Amino acid sequence: MTNKIDPNFSIRVDKDITLHIPTIGSTSMGYWLDENHQGNGTMTKSVKALMDYGFNVLKLHRIQILCAVHNIKSQKIALSLDFKKEGTLKDAIHHYDSFFDAYLYALIAPNRSSRT
Ligand SMILES: CC(C)(COP(=O)(O)OP(=O)(O)OC[C@H]1O[C@@H](n2cnc3c(N)ncnc32)[C@H](O)[C@@H]1OP(=O)(O)O)[C@@H](O)C(=O)NCCC(=O)NCCS
Repeated sequence: MTNKIDPNFSIRVDKDITLHIPTIGSTSMGYWLDENHQGNGTMTKSVKALMDYGFNVLKLHRIQILCAVHNIKSQKIALSLDFKKEGTLKDAIHHYDSFFDAYLYALIAPNRSSRT
């Protein structure tokens, strides 16, 4: 028996909520919610729950989120959960046959400092 770690931990609920979070020290989270269920705070609560799981159970050090620069809702989720904007990435998101610039938001595990 090997101690293999699944690199792509994912959650999918009734094809309406999708979240993914790889189980490595520094990782990315993305989200997509069926439009019939948007605007009720569902994704903010879901991301908060995954953050807690990532930091407390998986012992992740860093979680990051890429938000298209025009996607205000997505940015509000990151900001409301205290993610910090670190910069802008050119053509980092590919949607609907086009590339979009994205803001990179990140959060370091609470009470952990980095070496400088
Ligand atoms: C982005 C997405 C995940 C948001 O999910 P959601 O459950 O509707 O989000 P929430 O209800 O938790 O709301 C998030 C924030 O957006 C705000 N918001 C909701 N609808 C809004 C609108 N039409 N315009 C501006 N802000 C809006 C909410 O007020 C909330 O901000 P607040 O915490 O400051 O009040 C969802 O819209 C989605 O899946 N969109 C398509 C895929 C996508 O864009 N994914 C992100 C790729 S970068």
